[in-house]
Amino acid sequence: MIQNANPWDSMHQSSSAANQAPTNGQDDAPRPPSEPVDRLMYASRSLVTGSVFAEMQKIRAHALQRNVADSVHVALLHQSGWFMEWIEGPAHGVRALMSRVVADRRHQDLHLLHRSSGPRRLSEPWSMALVQTKEASDDFSSRVTTLRDELRRGHKVDPASVWRRLSTPLTHPGAAEQARSDRFQRVMVCAAQGADSFNLVQHLGTVHQAEVVHRRFVGAHADALDVATDYVDLEVGAVVRRVVAMARNGLQIGLTRAFLTDYSHVILLLCGVPARDLGLIERLVGACANLNHRPVLVGLGPLECDHVTLQRLAHAGGLVYLDCDLAGDIDSETLWAAAEPALDLALAVNYNWLSLQSPHWSPALRSMRAAALRQSGLGSNAELISAGQRSKS
Ligand SMILES: Cc1cc2nc3c(=O)[nH]c(=O)nc-3n(C[C@H](O)[C@H](O)[C@H](O)COP(=O)(O)O)c2cc1C
Repeated sequence: MIQNANPWDSMHQSSSAANQAPTNGQDDAPRPPSEPVDRLMYASRSLVTGSVFAEMQKIRAHALQRNVADSVHVALLHQSGWFMEWIEGPAHGVRALMSRVVADRRHQDLHLLHRSSGPRRLSEPWSMALVQTKEASDDFSSRVTTLRDELRRGHKVDPASVWRRLSTPLTHPGAAEQARSDRFQRVMVCAAQGADSFNLVQHLGTVHQAEVVHRRFVGAHADALDVATDYVDLEVGAVVRRVVAMARNGLQIGLTRAFLTDYSHVILLLCGVPARDLGLIERLVGACANLNHRPVLVGLGPLECDHVTLQRLAHAGGLVYLDCDLAGDIDSETLWAAAEPALDLALAVNYNWLSLQSPHWSPALRSMRAAALRQSGLGSNAELISAGQRSKS
């Protein structure tokens, strides 16, 4: 905890072991473009008594001016009575922000969780996430202590990993596993119209009796002021599969983009109205530009969907597109039954989420992967992507 008269200096000194630590070799940050910047994360106990969302919106209004002026980008999380802020920018900007933040009476008990120099992963000056889970504050605090102690012992972890580990509730399947290795398969679901993606996540939560975590994201732009995004963690044998419903305008938020590289798939719930379906693909292509690992798109929709055009647009953006027509009444069960085989196959083909050495590779999964590789003639998602790019011409 930071209690001295000049707390930022104390934070700065006490983190000297980690200061300037290079990022670990596993940093999947989107590149280019970025000169190395200072990256810092802290967690603090919230003292906000009224509406947390309203208070965070006030901070946002201020931050949008100050952060932009200093080229500082941040993502602010509120969960279980705690704040966590991820800050990236030039050293002077990060330092100036921290000296304002430590003096702010809306929080206390600041703990430094990460400090390094490396590429920017946050593409916007402001993102924020208000996460509602059933988890108690004490469980969140125990993760804060663990991450703080790991930093003090000189562990080098990239900022996105700190965010993932801190925000995953302990009660979720695979939480302990995530604390060690981050090996979740992440799948996003986005609907071209309506709330079908949210209905699907709710349906999965009910079927698996798993907690659906509700989140609100806010970005830097006026059309991303309050975006819903729910998720559910499902135990599927070899991995935990996180299925995230994302509202369409959430795709442009810096925080969403910072994690897009971790998704194996984006499931697109199409509606057959060309303008809406094309609009969704265009948003995705824009959001995935500059990623060094891109999710595979799975387009699900009624028979009238124009998959040929959608596929062409996806390929032009370097994305693999798998299509599936559905007839009759399309409910959540039908959608998941159509999408799930593509996700299972990817587990077998793609080892960006599961290292070959991983203890989670059961013999069954190994042979499934080998069979899938033989059938496809492809070695990895990178090859799938370049195959997608080749088919453009
Ligand atoms: C958790 C938390 C995060 C904050 N993040 C930022 C930020 O990213 N940028 C910013 O300018 N102010 C941020 N603030 C607000 C600052 O602490 C401070 O109130 C504000 O910059 C005004 O400072 P000033 O009165 O010295 O100008 C944050 C406050 C809290 C409680």
